[in-house]
Amino acid sequence: MGRHTMTIAGLNRRFGTDAAALAPAVAHSDQIRAVFGGFPAAVVALCAEIGGSPYGMIATSLTVGVSYDPPMALFSAHNDSSTWPVLKTAGRIGASVLAEHQSAACHQLAAKGVDRFADLDIHTTPHGPLFIEGASSWMDCEITGELPAGDHTIITFRIHQIGHSPHTPLIYHNGHFPRIHHDHNP
Ligand SMILES: Cc1cc2nc3c(=O)[nH]c(=O)nc-3n(C[C@H](O)[C@H](O)[C@H](O)COP(=O)(O)O)c2cc1C
Repeated sequence: MGRHTMTIAGLNRRFGTDAAALAPAVAHSDQIRAVFGGFPAAVVALCAEIGGSPYGMIATSLTVGVSYDPPMALFSAHNDSSTWPVLKTAGRIGASVLAEHQSAACHQLAAKGVDRFADLDIHTTPHGPLFIEGASSWMDCEITGELPAGDHTIITFRIHQIGHSPHTPLIYHNGHFPRIHHDHNP
C-alpha cells in the first residue's frame, strides 16, 4: 500500500488540471493508479468461519445500494486472490465496514503469511459469517451471483442482516486513511 501515492500537486503537474488533460485509460498506467487510488472508498473486512477456522480479506470495492429492495451489495474479487476461493465456499459472508480506529486491523487482514485474526475481537455466527467487533457497520451477506470483469470477478450479495455502531468508517484514499471531518456546510 502507498507505493504509488502521489500528491494532488504532483498529479496536476503531470496530468493537468482540467478535463482537456484526459488521457487513454491504459492498464497499470500512472493515470489509472491516480484515478482509482484517488477514489475514496470504505474499508471492508469480508470474513467467515469455515471448518472451525476464520478466513478473511480486506476489500475497498464493496459497494452498497446496488439494490434497495431486496437489499444488495457487490464486491470485486481479484482473480489472483488465494483467500476468496476458500471464503466463497461459506456461501454467507460477514462484511464489517471497519471504523477509523481500525487501520491496523486493515493491514493485518490484508497481509500474507500472518494470522490475520491475531488479537482481533471477532463475533462468530451459527451459519458462518464472522464479524469484526468495533466496526462501523455489519452486513450478513449471501453470495447470489458472479460476473467476470477483467482481472476481477464481480460478486453480488443479498444482505440478510445488518447492524451499525456510532463509529465513523475508515476511508482509504491514495494509500492513506484520511479522517472524515464532520463540519457541515451552511
Ligand atoms: C486497502 C485494500 C483494499 C483491497 N481491496 C480488495 C478488493 O476490493 N478486492 C480484492 O480481491 N482484494 C482486495 N485487497 C487485497 C486483499 O485484501 C488481500 O490482501 C489479497 O487478496 C491477498 O491475499 P490472498 O491471496 O490471501 O487473497 C485489498 C487490500 C487492501 C490493503
